[in-house]
Amino acid sequence: MRDMIKPHIVLGITGGIAAYKSAELLRLLTKQGVSVQVVMTDAACRFITPTTMQALSGRPVYTDQWDAREPNHMAHINLSREALAIVIAPASADFIAKIALGLADDLLSTLCLARRCPLLIAPAMNREMWQNKAVQRNIEQLVNDGVQVLGPGSGLQACGEEGMGRMLEPLQLAQQVATLFHPKILSGKKILITAGPTYEAIDAVRGITNRSSGKMGYAIAQAAIEMGAEVTLVSGPVALAAPFDAKVIKVESAAQMYEAVMESVAACDIFIAVAAVADYRAATPSEQKIKKSAAPLTLELVPNPDILAQVAAMKNPPYCVGFAAESENLAEYAEQKRRTKKLPLLVGNIAQHAIGSDDNELILFDDNGRHPLPRADKLTLARELIQQIAQRYEGDKK
Ligand code: C5P
Repeated sequence: MRDMIKPHIVLGITGGIAAYKSAELLRLLTKQGVSVQVVMTDAACRFITPTTMQALSGRPVYTDQWDAREPNHMAHINLSREALAIVIAPASADFIAKIALGLADDLLSTLCLARRCPLLIAPAMNREMWQNKAVQRNIEQLVNDGVQVLGPGSGLQACGEEGMGRMLEPLQLAQQVATLFHPKILSGKKILITAGPTYEAIDAVRGITNRSSGKMGYAIAQAAIEMGAEVTLVSGPVALAAPFDAKVIKVESAAQMYEAVMESVAACDIFIAVAAVADYRAATPSEQKIKKSAAPLTLELVPNPDILAQVAAMKNPPYCVGFAAESENLAEYAEQKRRTKKLPLLVGNIAQHAIGSDDNELILFDDNGRHPLPRADKLTLARELIQQIAQRYEGDKK
């Protein structure tokens, strides 16, 4: 979020075992450049200490309606006026009932009632509690009141039972909160993104792949969602959590990636090919494991389809953006690639600096020359890149 005023939110924590995850959520939010004022209920303080949350937020935590630190004794007004949003994570069944009724008997509930900003809640409770008619009634009331309900998710619960009621993971919540702070310049636009490597089987256990973590493609998907786009992410094998709200199609080989892209491309406005697609695959992959022997082994490789080049060559192509990771002569190779594949925009980076790392630096190549995006973490770069793409896409349409 360089060049942006630091957004400020209130993170409210209520009493539930998922409160231990709020520390991670706070860390992720501050890492994203959000300043956070933590407010905890009495019950929350039984699960996690204000000391932890103060250390991570760099601000004293508020727990008391009668906090004497506020000169006018109106913490509930002051804290809510400073915030762009109030996020309650975890939101217990009791707290949900309280705000559905409009009660204001502690600092956090009073703050919710006095707010002018959006309220987001991440429910967390046992599955029977979540399914209880009273809780569902309260949730319905809150949705009607304009409160944004994030989750809950399903899975193993702290009580040992399994089902709906788990708080969403901190990363998913941080991604949802981040969408509040970005202009919706891609609202109504459909974006198709490829990410990660492809894996081309040689036999049952061996294969050819490219080094790619998928981090840049996933960050671009996240940034596009934050700015209002509807995102389809065609992903090769990576160890990353999918961005919240993206439609993810998991593939393994270049041929599968090609199929998935061709199925979705007609409906999309912008196509961003970030995947490191294997250029070749084995001509005849063996179903069984090839037995080792002392003799040399020759593999016949055949070229894979160039997905991006084929999309760009369509009759009415979407706005196409390519990526080029080069180990040398970046400017020369990138511009060459842009012309060969007939792309309006190609994003170049130095492979040794980019692969697997959390940050990167990019150079944009278009008809007007080169435009560097200086080193930053991949999400910051992705947001800048999406803004650049949105401007060019709009310009292109005129
Ligand atoms: O030709 P090269 O592989 O270096 O081009 C890189 C760009 O082309 C990337 O955007 C990549 O996602 C895309 N590409 C593709 N299909 C291939 C090879 C590359 O879409 N088979």
